[in-house]
Amino acid sequence: MLSGRTNVNKFLIEEQRRNPALAGDFSMLISDVVRSCKAIAQGVSRGSLADVLGDAGRDNVQGEAQKKLDVLANQAFIRHCEWGGHLAAMASEEMEDIYHIPPENPRGQYLLVFDPLDGSSNIDVNLSVGSIFSVLRYPEDRQGAEPTTDDFLQPGACQVAAGYALYGPSTMLVLTVGNGTQGFTLDRNIGEFLLTHPNLAISPETREFAINASNERFWEAPIQRYVSECLAGKSGVREKDFNMRWVASMVAEVHRILMRGGVFMYPRDSKDMSKPGRLRLMYEASPMAMIVAQAGGLASTGDERILDVQPTSLHQRVPVILGSRDEVERIERYHREHATGEDQPFSSPLFSTRTLFRDD
Ligand code: F6P
Repeated sequence: MLSGRTNVNKFLIEEQRRNPALAGDFSMLISDVVRSCKAIAQGVSRGSLADVLGDAGRDNVQGEAQKKLDVLANQAFIRHCEWGGHLAAMASEEMEDIYHIPPENPRGQYLLVFDPLDGSSNIDVNLSVGSIFSVLRYPEDRQGAEPTTDDFLQPGACQVAAGYALYGPSTMLVLTVGNGTQGFTLDRNIGEFLLTHPNLAISPETREFAINASNERFWEAPIQRYVSECLAGKSGVREKDFNMRWVASMVAEVHRILMRGGVFMYPRDSKDMSKPGRLRLMYEASPMAMIVAQAGGLASTGDERILDVQPTSLHQRVPVILGSRDEVERIERYHREHATGEDQPFSSPLFSTRTLFRDD
């Protein structure tokens, strides 16, 4: 039966007509990205049948073991996006340096940054993973010049578009081009993403949080305070019970928040002092921050809005706190209060033998 739903191409063309700033071949670029995601969805869904599971036998630039599917997903993005003439260059979690468009292909006016397969520790156990992408403009005064890493180092507020594909029970594409956040579901019968979740809105309040609690002893004090108050539930200062979730797949986590609210935290911690957080700014935090902000939520490092963070390197890490606006603002307040010493020492009801909140 014909569904009559808007597909992603129609949506993009209409957005481009509405917003002349989305220059020229913008919709064609996103269509190339969408094709990459469809190809990855196919590989992920075939799993063991396609012999794509397991380690690739080497580490990526972050020193993490690359999975075969990480490598294949990276190739899918490159293969689908390098020839259309819409991009000046690309950058990916899986490549140390930026990817130059081969000289035989025309170059365009956008930059694409992506994490081809996020949450890849979940691949081998058949749980949800995703791809994340961000589109930036290639600076006008640089057109014609050979792109460099510096061209990519633009704060998230400069993103033209951001999105993710979630390879879950159904494959979904969530996309923003700066006019709200839209959700599309892949109809495998016709091979198209159809608009199923228009204008997603994150409820400002929530009773659900997500954090890797095994890092509790390494968290900074404001996060310890927040989580401890959530855990205290009705009997504590929050006067309501909270629920906790942790999928260890950021795309799945953000998707849940878009669907029913919540707050996701991967804060700065002292586990490895050389890393000011686990998640990467340019292809995880910034695109997710735009998606969440366009759905009425908020994304912060605790001290600064993620969309305002000026990148200093391609693979930079940042603390990430995102989701329901009221909760993120509360956590930002806890950071401010800790910085000014306004917060009070407290004994966690969970860990009553030691003081968690103040360093002294
Ligand atoms: O690389 C990022 C990632 O896989 C995210 O998708 C996820 O939120 C996080 O790492 C999980 O981290 P951990 O293994 O510490 O729970």
